[in-house]
Amino acid sequence: MSYSNVLYVAAEGLATITINRPEKLNALNIKTLAEIDHAVRTAQKDKSVRGIILTGAGEKAFAAGADISEFAGFSHDQGQELSSRGHAIFNNIENSHKPVIAAVNGFALGGGCELAMACHMRIASANARFGQPEVNLGLIPGYAGTQRLIQLVGKGKAIELLLTAEVIKADEACRLGLVNHTVETVAELLPKATEMLQKIAAKGPKAIAQCIILVNDFFDKEENGFHNEIEAFGSLFQTPEFKEGTSAFLEKRPAKF
Ligand code: COA
Repeated sequence: MSYSNVLYVAAEGLATITINRPEKLNALNIKTLAEIDHAVRTAQKDKSVRGIILTGAGEKAFAAGADISEFAGFSHDQGQELSSRGHAIFNNIENSHKPVIAAVNGFALGGGCELAMACHMRIASANARFGQPEVNLGLIPGYAGTQRLIQLVGKGKAIELLLTAEVIKADEACRLGLVNHTVETVAELLPKATEMLQKIAAKGPKAIAQCIILVNDFFDKEENGFHNEIEAFGSLFQTPEFKEGTSAFLEKRPAKF
């Protein structure tokens, strides 16, 4: 598939997906969401890819939200359909067995903040800004922002951010736990994300996938993460990567996964 609104590069074990509508501050219209979804699924299927970076083109925005011009005239059903589609796309990112890092290079507002929150980790440059300003439009977050924001910053702060539509700076987002790390400049973002993903790529991929699944299970009311951890722990003993990891340790050499 050739993309109009995203750039996709897979190299040296990592896939980088760049939202590429800088003239619209990378606003997430339906086509862009579909392309992000396709690119993420491509990376998930590619055996050579061990980690995924999501970022925005330019120095101004990661994504300034859903495309307001596109949904301004939507009906009840169209609104619900848009939200439901967004949930499915973002859930797939959250449930990716390969780690996904958002490299937030500017505004991450509304759907942009929700997209960053669906990723497993977030790195932000100092100029990044986070917020859920939907109430300014008489709306609420529609891509699970009301749920994931609580998971990251806790109920009290989540309600404050949702109700006031306050936009916060990268350092404040980091203090709240919304962001894992900050870097000074946009240019430092991809090297930092790459360094983190390369560190993870040196570990057992099945073990990495299980960590992601089990952390997500904690927030899934239909799953028992404690029970699932026991099952997963046992199943990993049967994998070649466990044999390699333990042999390497005992033979005092680096493991090769
Ligand atoms: N949807 C559609 N278009 C958007 C957009 C969005 N969420 N965010 C920005 N754009 C467009 C603007 O309409 C403008 O397009 P134009 O040049 O054709 O008029 C372009 O991107 C640049 O944005 P602009 O507002 O001129 O930049 P700014 O630096 O003055 O302000 C923001 C930046 C982020 C503060 C402002 O664009 C904004 O508030 N955006 C909406 C944020 C939002 O409410 N997101 C949640 C949506 S549910």
